[in-house]
Amino acid sequence: MAVRKIRVLGDEILRKACKPVPEMTPRNAQLIEDMFDTMYENNGVGLAASQVGILKQIVVIDIEDGNQYVLINPEILEEEGTQTGQEGCLSVPGKCGVVTRPNKVKVRALDEHMQEYILEGEGLLARAIVHECDHLKGQMYVDLVEGELMDAAAEEGEEEAE
Ligand code: NI
Repeated sequence: MAVRKIRVLGDEILRKACKPVPEMTPRNAQLIEDMFDTMYENNGVGLAASQVGILKQIVVIDIEDGNQYVLINPEILEEEGTQTGQEGCLSVPGKCGVVTRPNKVKVRALDEHMQEYILEGEGLLARAIVHECDHLKGQMYVDLVEGELMDAAAEEGEEEAE
């Protein structure tokens, strides 16, 4: 298990665009494993590679629906509806804010074996997919917050952070 250091808001690497991943290498496989370790260690539901300082188009998501999603070079194909709710981010510790996102998304990505697949997400999964894909473009949810950033609830496990 290898937990990597999470970059926080203000670190310029978070504002840079990530590059497509051309092939699976031992290095990339290790990065994906470490991203899951880092996400779980910090009670997150999603993590983008740029959040651990690597500018590659790799996202991991686990919203506790029984799946560990790996999205490499993801491309959002369709968005439908809207949802407005609280969102957090492991790169903005202790904070949350209200963000409107699509309620459903369809995304095309490569899995950890570089096999293309289509993932359709609704609700929290849609929110996580869009939030993480934004990270790959150097975008952060704090830019989209409606009203003020708030302090996240103190209770352990209360917040979902991406
Ligand atoms: Ni985030």
